Amino acid sequence: MSVDLSTTFTGIRFQNPFLLASAPPTESESNILRAFDSGWGGVVTKTIGMHPVINVAGPKTKFSRYDPASGLFSMRTKSTIVHSSWNWELISDKPLDDWLPRIRRIKAAHPDRALIASIMAGSGSDKELEHWRTMATACQEAGADGLELNLSCPHMDRPDMGSNIGRDEALCSFVTQVVKEVATVPVWAKLTPATADIVVEAGAVFRGGADAVTSSNTFPSLPIIDPNTLEFEIQVDGFVSSGGLGGPAILPLSMANMSRMTRAFPDRSFSAIGGVSDFGQALNYLLLGAGTVQVCTAAMLDKAVGPNVIRKLLEGYTEFMERHADRGWKSLDDFRGLLRNRVVAQSQIRRPDDSDYQGGYDEAAEGYAAPEITERAGARED
Ligand SMILES: Cc1cc2nc3c(=O)[nH]c(=O)nc-3n(C[C@H](O)[C@H](O)[C@H](O)COP(=O)(O)O)c2cc1C
Repeated sequence: MSVDLSTTFTGIRFQNPFLLASAPPTESESNILRAFDSGWGGVVTKTIGMHPVINVAGPKTKFSRYDPASGLFSMRTKSTIVHSSWNWELISDKPLDDWLPRIRRIKAAHPDRALIASIMAGSGSDKELEHWRTMATACQEAGADGLELNLSCPHMDRPDMGSNIGRDEALCSFVTQVVKEVATVPVWAKLTPATADIVVEAGAVFRGGADAVTSSNTFPSLPIIDPNTLEFEIQVDGFVSSGGLGGPAILPLSMANMSRMTRAFPDRSFSAIGGVSDFGQALNYLLLGAGTVQVCTAAMLDKAVGPNVIRKLLEGYTEFMERHADRGWKSLDDFRGLLRNRVVAQSQIRRPDDSDYQGGYDEAAEGYAAPEITERAGARED
């Protein structure tokens, strides 16, 4: 049985709803070409900017893993159980003029694959606002099918850039509006999870004219400290600054934000990111109402552009559609948002009947450690 995995999102046709997120996998022309050859439905380029970029003098990204044998949770263990990525990498260090011919060549080679250009500038002066316009115009003229505004980079010292825009309702609306005034292609706004209520900023960028919200960028965090060396596991000269957490650890956190937004704006478009490496994980976001799903950490760990990740996503999606063919599902739109309204206020969750209620903890352990293990752990020698 042949299954149609294609989808139209914000007016852009995608052969499948799975994209490489803006990050190292989409930092070069050769990576993006390999990504399309591997089957990704689209890519969001590594964020392009107008300012010179110099990264830290040390590792920019590391992966934390859990080793069940030793109980170690660390960036140093070789375990295959990935917990998260941690990075303090800045945006692309290639200038706009380097990117433009590359976007042209990629689109010439793959006219049927979607390329979204991620762009970022400041918001504190007319010159900065002009940077947004310059990049938007240049990228769309080079052939980009859409633009993603990076309003969410978590490690910017400048108060008028990155997640400092994304945290500010008025600024993120205004920057979106500035780009929309010159944009001839759809504009997505990538929001930061580091905010009190992401629904506020989502509403703001939609008011500014955004065609979609992308969520989530990485979560502000610190790398863990090695108890032996007493140093952060990623640092330069002993120093560290706030960076971003991605990968499996953020899937439930990013789901919560997606759910808040899709319930508040059920008719709007959302591109989901956070901790996805297979179809079951991507499905979380689709069932909450997202229309495309982006991947970063899992792809970085799989030959740099995730050929096995996209193969698994496509296999899982095909098998899912075949399994549900009897429900008449023919495309993503037939099941997208199916569980959106299942997230409700706590007070709306059914309580037990009076006769069943024990008035406190039940006798049976409710998924906690069994009592004898707890007692042994707390037992005293004397
Ligand atoms: C090393 C690294 C660099 C990144 N660079 C960018 C970037 O330039 N622009 C951007 O919008 N997001 C960037 N991100 C964030 C990712 O696009 C993505 O939002 C985040 O990693 C969560 O997805 P994941 O759980 O699949 O990793 C970067 C992430 C990593 C790990």
